[in-house]
Amino acid sequence: MSGKKTQRRTCLAIVLAAGEGTRMRSAKPKALHMIGGRTLLAHVLTAATQAGGGDIAVVVGPDHYAVATEARALAPKATIFEQAQRRGTAHAVLAARKAIARQPDDILVMFGDTPLVRPQTLRDLRVALGRGAAVAVLGFRPENPAGYGRLITRGDELLAIREERDATAEQRTITLCNGGLMALAGETALKILDRIDNKNSKGEFYLTDAVAIAHDMGLKAVAIETGEDDMRGINTKAQLAETEAVLQKRLRAAALDAGVTMIAPETVFLSADTKFGKDVTVEPNVVFGPGVTVEDGALIRAFSHLEGARVGKGARVGPFARLRPGADLGADVHIGNFVEVKAAKIEAGAKANHLSYIGDARIGAGANIGAGTITCNYDGVAKHRTDIGKGAFIGSNSALVAPVKIGDGAYIGSGSVVTRNVPADALAIARGEQTVKAGWAKRLRAHKSLGRKKAKKPTK
Ligand code: UD1
Ligand code: MG
Repeated sequence: MSGKKTQRRTCLAIVLAAGEGTRMRSAKPKALHMIGGRTLLAHVLTAATQAGGGDIAVVVGPDHYAVATEARALAPKATIFEQAQRRGTAHAVLAARKAIARQPDDILVMFGDTPLVRPQTLRDLRVALGRGAAVAVLGFRPENPAGYGRLITRGDELLAIREERDATAEQRTITLCNGGLMALAGETALKILDRIDNKNSKGEFYLTDAVAIAHDMGLKAVAIETGEDDMRGINTKAQLAETEAVLQKRLRAAALDAGVTMIAPETVFLSADTKFGKDVTVEPNVVFGPGVTVEDGALIRAFSHLEGARVGKGARVGPFARLRPGADLGADVHIGNFVEVKAAKIEAGAKANHLSYIGDARIGAGANIGAGTITCNYDGVAKHRTDIGKGAFIGSNSALVAPVKIGDGAYIGSGSVVTRNVPADALAIARGEQTVKAGWAKRLRAHKSLGRKKAKKPTK
């Protein structure tokens, strides 16, 4: 099926995710660990889709229901195949035999633990198939080649891949290594894969043997060289952290490229799906969890933490603010220091500048939420809503006991504990009355300095 343009060629991406990830020392399957706010599997599936892998097969281990669930959530059309026993990378690919048998033009074999491969790198592999290769492999030159398979080449031709433990001392001096991912022409894939055996030191079916077999069959195999970052595989928590660091560099560079102003980008942590409008400024030490959109002209000040939130045009957040999932800030909203917002719509121009908790609420346009205001949304059993009308003024240190509605333009006296609805434009004060006892403090001091016996303790 060579000769057709890449865009026109059908493509199956097979994602191998059956590994236990023993070295992660975690109860969680390896493919479900996260970098940049999404699972390793999500990164791989995104790259596969962007490279044109319209058809996706995910190979999971036995009882890896969580991996299958994540795969279905991310790619509802993906087919899940189970590899009952871990018998090697070729064996894992063949778990998806039914999908391969449909003979797509291109097959991309991807690893669930290699999340940074760029779609362009995968497209390069597909282009090689389009030019007539039966097998195209990604090669790279790691700083430390230990543990990787070595690419045996002659001129442009790739003759074989030798796993390190099966390689001769001479072959081990080769610096061009196997990244692991490869592309196979659909037409010949099964013929090649079915010839792979397990006669090697590990007794496994090695996908890497596809190269020598293709060569024996008179088919062409090629290697495409790419950078080490693309090929980073994750086996340990240390590698997870290193890969996160590489991803953060990429995400910061992309944000700067898109025009975000950051004076210390190296201190800002982003998620793969963080979205920025024009002229956004992000101060140092800000963390963007998944699902954040920051619109044009917004300012995110230092030490703020955001996830699942929208920050509207011209809004200002922080320093030291926390936006939790469902925080939806309209244009020009101000959320100041030590303010936490969760599942709340804050309409245009409203302000909560200091020390507040706003949860399960709507704050109308232009409302002013005084310092220390708390929406008491939880009664220990269920969550309840607070609705504050536009232009309302909530005096400092008020507790709004939900469910409760404050009408448009209403005014709540400071320190109130509001338990009933307040009509529009009304004043509500709900606090103990102030009592004043003239001279009381002076009498107390006298009582203390003279000793209890000589002075009478003031009572009234
Ligand atoms: C593999 C390559 C090696 C390459 C390296 C790059 C083979 C035989 N070797 O070695 O040449 O340099 O990647 O990182 O391919 N998996 C399954 N089922 C299995 C075995 C593996 O699903 O039975 C999955 C793993 O979950 C993982 C991927 O396949 O996502 C790679 O397996 P792994 O054991 O990590 O291969 P390496 O030894 O790293
Ligand atoms: Mg590996």
